[in-house]
Amino acid sequence: MNNFEFYSPTRIIFGRDTQKLTGAWVKKYASKILLHYGGGSVKKSGLYDAVAASLKEAGVEFMELGGVSPNPKLSLVYKGIELCRRENIRFILAVGGGSVIDSAKAIAVGVDFKGDVWDLFLGKAQTDKALPVATVLTIPAAGSEASGNSVVTNEETKVKAGYRTMYNRPVFSILNPELCYTLPKEQMANGVCDMMAHLFERYFTRTPNTELTDKFCEGALKTIINNAPKLLKDFKNYDAWAEIMFSGYIAHNGLLGMGRQEDWAPHAIEHAVSALYDVAHGAGLAIIFPAWMRYVYKEDPLIFAQFAVNVWGLSDAVRNPEELALKAIERTEQFFKSLGLPARLSEIGVKKADFAFMAEHGHKYGSQGFFKKLTQGDILKILELAY
Ligand code: NZQ
Ligand code: ZN
Repeated sequence: MNNFEFYSPTRIIFGRDTQKLTGAWVKKYASKILLHYGGGSVKKSGLYDAVAASLKEAGVEFMELGGVSPNPKLSLVYKGIELCRRENIRFILAVGGGSVIDSAKAIAVGVDFKGDVWDLFLGKAQTDKALPVATVLTIPAAGSEASGNSVVTNEETKVKAGYRTMYNRPVFSILNPELCYTLPKEQMANGVCDMMAHLFERYFTRTPNTELTDKFCEGALKTIINNAPKLLKDFKNYDAWAEIMFSGYIAHNGLLGMGRQEDWAPHAIEHAVSALYDVAHGAGLAIIFPAWMRYVYKEDPLIFAQFAVNVWGLSDAVRNPEELALKAIERTEQFFKSLGLPARLSEIGVKKADFAFMAEHGHKYGSQGFFKKLTQGDILKILELAY
């Protein structure tokens, strides 16, 4: 196990009706805030009204900025920064999914930053300042409700890049599984795939002696695999959503990667795909992750065999770890398909002519992998496998 330092300060307020507590919690930090949301689902579901009422009741004044799109765009981040500066707003409440939360975090680091906020995302600058952000989560997926990451797309250059800082971890996040009932089914599947991917990025490591975090990852994966199919049968199954929502948080608050080398190459490759094609992040991962697994498993078939036995319940009577590894990858693909997720880049309209751009982008604006160090040539081969 490697040395590590763990600090995950986000307060989680979990359960039924908890959105009604928003105002009271915000009031502990600020009396005037920016309320940030997406393309309208919160207005349709009534959540916007509930949050607004709770803010008013607590005496919190708010200005609002809606319109965050999935794969949030830099142009709206600039708008938010200007608005906060002009109105002297020092606190942001994100009501929505990972895209809204990431947009809020980008605004939060941009307000007091002297240069162009995009330089933070390009790795050209750092900041130790950020306005506090809090969230009311509406889709369990990205894990942004407790992570220090923000992922934004520059729509002009078609670059999707992430900025990570401890100052961007939300001060609190409200997680009410009931808020998921209005999700489109495909968004549930996208979210499930994304949280599984967050566990995979940590699980498939070359660091030896990581028994506790191995078991945490396996437990979270099994919980997700057990509960997601229940939602296909009954979309208002509170307990299944509660397990999924808790798993999405635990998959990405950082704990499960402690003491082990994480990978993140599949995420970087997917970001290159969704920057160009605006595909949902989870759907992109359902295609990229199995292809990555097939490309790298020979580096350490034993951890894939462990995955086969401990997560998928495949028999350890099969003596050949490579055979087990391949079976586990197949099961993973089948599971994604059973949720209605796409399996091939060709299915979502990706053109091979864009592979070179995506390989360069994936290599430059993300990790180059640790489980297996990847060159641009390797990424091209993974994209071919995924096609
Ligand atoms: O915009 P609205 O109208 O709210 O609709 C959204 C959006 O269309 C809809 N939705 C969300 N909650 C709903 C709902 N519709 C009905 N009822 C609800 N309760 O779902 C759509 C997708 O929302 P989005 O926020 O884009 O989804 P997600 O949470 O999957 O976020 C994806 C983004 O997060 C980034 C991804 O790259 C992508 O840009 N990630 C962020 C990470 C982080 N900050 O730590 C890590 C992840 O690996 C990921 O990269
Ligand atoms: Zn992700």
